[in-house]
Amino acid sequence: MTVADLPKIELHLHHEGAAPPAFIRQLAHEKRIDLSGIFKPDGSYDFRDFAHFLSVYEAACEVLKSPEDFRRLTLAILEESAANGVVYSETFLSPDFCGGGDLHAWQDYLTAIQDAADEAERKFDITLRGVVTCVRHFGPEQAKFSAHCAAETAGDWVTGFGMGGNESIGTQGEFKWAFDCAREAGLHLTTHAGEFGGPESVRDAIHDLGVERVGHGVRAIEDPDLIRELVDRDITLEVCPGSNVVLGLYPDFAAHPIARLREAGVNVTVSTDDPPFFHTTMRREYEMLSEAFGWNAEDFAALNETALNAAFCDEDTRARVKKRLEKT
Ligand code: ADE
Ligand code: ZN
Repeated sequence: MTVADLPKIELHLHHEGAAPPAFIRQLAHEKRIDLSGIFKPDGSYDFRDFAHFLSVYEAACEVLKSPEDFRRLTLAILEESAANGVVYSETFLSPDFCGGGDLHAWQDYLTAIQDAADEAERKFDITLRGVVTCVRHFGPEQAKFSAHCAAETAGDWVTGFGMGGNESIGTQGEFKWAFDCAREAGLHLTTHAGEFGGPESVRDAIHDLGVERVGHGVRAIEDPDLIRELVDRDITLEVCPGSNVVLGLYPDFAAHPIARLREAGVNVTVSTDDPPFFHTTMRREYEMLSEAFGWNAEDFAALNETALNAAFCDEDTRARVKKRLEKT
């Protein structure tokens, strides 16, 4: 067995960002929406930089307009993840793209997504949990609607709340109300920080929002005091190396700080972020990490253990996934 065949846990996956371009084109065709401008001639998504990536992402979301669209999308995503050896996954779901922040609409979308997740669990032996995310560049007021949707549907399946979007706009602290609301509903917390923002963004995420995980967080490598704080507070980073390379944070895997963060004692995990956008899969992430840093089956088993400890799920689910990992 090669490392790429090992079972995997993924904690950072954007639901719409996991939509294969062919899936989006098919929906565009069915709905007679012209999206030709967001694809390259070879059919892949076409973007220049991070800001353009976000606008292409939002353009693709234009065809995802009903619970049925999200049911189909969820099945497609989980079939692909399972084919790449993922046994447990957490997906970021934005009420902004699922009914525009309206609670009743969100409940219908969520029911469709959960039905598809149940079907995928039976068919492909993969477990999914949902992390509701607000979108930073939509602003703190809109984020309150997302937090309300999250709080009202919090439970065994919606287990977390987080924030994605453009980290260069506003501050983490402006979203405190939304994160407090989610925390009071019993949700676990994560936010994107230290991807395009520097170490101070990671510090704000921990101090101002009280998150237990950080999406990316890799720029913490620039600040030794912050690294110590991440270790002391037992914060877990949802690291997405392939995404960081494609978006130009680092020139290649060898230059990526994941191995240095791990050596410093930080809890690191590996995810794909938006796999078709970044031409990656969990299998490819494992292959690239193994090639760049010589990581072997033991290293990846340790990574899985870290991810499972940090997973936003109940203890029964954690024990079940642990057994599933041991079985393979
Ligand atoms: N939304 C989807 N992918 C993202 C990323 N890599 N950073 C911030 N927001 C995102
Ligand atoms: Zn992300």
